[in-house]
Amino acid sequence: MGASRVGKSVITSIYFHDLTERIEIERQLRHANSFLQNIIRSSVDGIVVVDKGGHVLIFNEGAERILGYKAEEVIGDPEMFAKFYDPQVARENMRRMRSGDYGPPGKLSTTRITLVHKSGEKVPVNFSAAIIKEGDREVGSVGIFSDLREHLRIRRELEEARYQLLQAEKIASLGRLSAGVAHEINNPLAGILIYAEMLMKEVGDHPQWRQDLEEIIHQTLRCKQIVTRLLEFSRQPLGERVSYDMGHLAARCVELLCHQPLFHDVRFAMDLPADLPDMVGDPGQLQQVFTNLIINAANAMDGKGQITLSGRYDAGDDTVSLQFADSGPGIPPEIRDKIFEPFFTTKAPGSGTGLGLSVAYGIVQQHGGSIEAGTAPGGGALFTVILPRESPEATSETFDE
Ligand SMILES: Nc1ncnc2c1ncn2[C@@H]1O[C@H](COP(=O)(O)OP(=O)(O)O)[C@@H](O)[C@H]1O
Ligand SMILES: [Mg+2]
Repeated sequence: MGASRVGKSVITSIYFHDLTERIEIERQLRHANSFLQNIIRSSVDGIVVVDKGGHVLIFNEGAERILGYKAEEVIGDPEMFAKFYDPQVARENMRRMRSGDYGPPGKLSTTRITLVHKSGEKVPVNFSAAIIKEGDREVGSVGIFSDLREHLRIRRELEEARYQLLQAEKIASLGRLSAGVAHEINNPLAGILIYAEMLMKEVGDHPQWRQDLEEIIHQTLRCKQIVTRLLEFSRQPLGERVSYDMGHLAARCVELLCHQPLFHDVRFAMDLPADLPDMVGDPGQLQQVFTNLIINAANAMDGKGQITLSGRYDAGDDTVSLQFADSGPGIPPEIRDKIFEPFFTTKAPGSGTGLGLSVAYGIVQQHGGSIEAGTAPGGGALFTVILPRESPEATSETFDE
């Protein structure tokens, strides 16, 4: 009796022991399961699991963020899958996975593909996938992808910066070259002028000869002017370093130009805050920069249209930016990189020297600032000049040290 009681209690305890073990295993399984689910859910990468029929079973937070859909919009709806994953690409990827030629059988090693965001934006991703099997039976597949947009953006920016550096380097070396050439040409030009003027005195009043000599002198003076501008571009030491008012300076350029014939049909819109801070630099040289930009704008518009000049002070950087926008045809993207190079011009021979913007570039650089070309809201050209409130003391960045 006693023994049987003992036996029974042993059985009960074994049974209880069994039960607690099962509960414990179940608890551990649930725990492991929810742990795995947590990993899947919160992974930065997008994880999408579909069954054989293309019904989405899992659509994690990473996928929500990368593709813009909420999991509940996507899960269970067989139409949705094809919206973000091109069915043709999907079929091709399945074929590759089954063939085993593109990684281990049943797997797709990382490839670059494009998914489609809910907004329609194409999202480049690194994508890998695997077929899910139960025994030998295919039951679905899982795709894992990471967003490449940020990565590609940074790469583009780096390339852009590298390109701009090259461009600056190229302009600087062109500057050195043209300074050398300008120097060499300057003296013979002065010689031609002197001899032409001497001849002029000798020819008396022979009208045809006088006219020819005048032409020689006129053309030579034009050459001298080009040479002077070249030297300006390549050497510009800051002529002076004084305090000036940017608003006044810009307004004076406009006043000086607006009475010239080229500007009769040009409207000026000025948006210069009265409280722009006082600047330090060479106002004479900057006036040349602004004049060049304004004349270019009027040329581009064939003398008809609007030039908008706006200024802004950025207290954070302690810089003033000036924008010159025109209502002309704008700068074609394919020449945007070239316009600051000396001698680059799209104007007919004789009417443009291609030096205006390179001179402007050199002067702005000497002031420790930057100049950029872009597109104005109406499609015209937009030049932005950014100058530090106080330009640095004469820099060592001259082209001909
Ligand atoms: N406001 C503008 N709109 C359109 N194109 C411009 C503008 N400013 C400059 N450009 C382009 O840049 C080129 C170079 O300008 P620049 O260096 O001043 O030389 P130039 O005026 O002698 O041609 C111009 O020939 C023109 O093609
Ligand atoms: Mg010009």
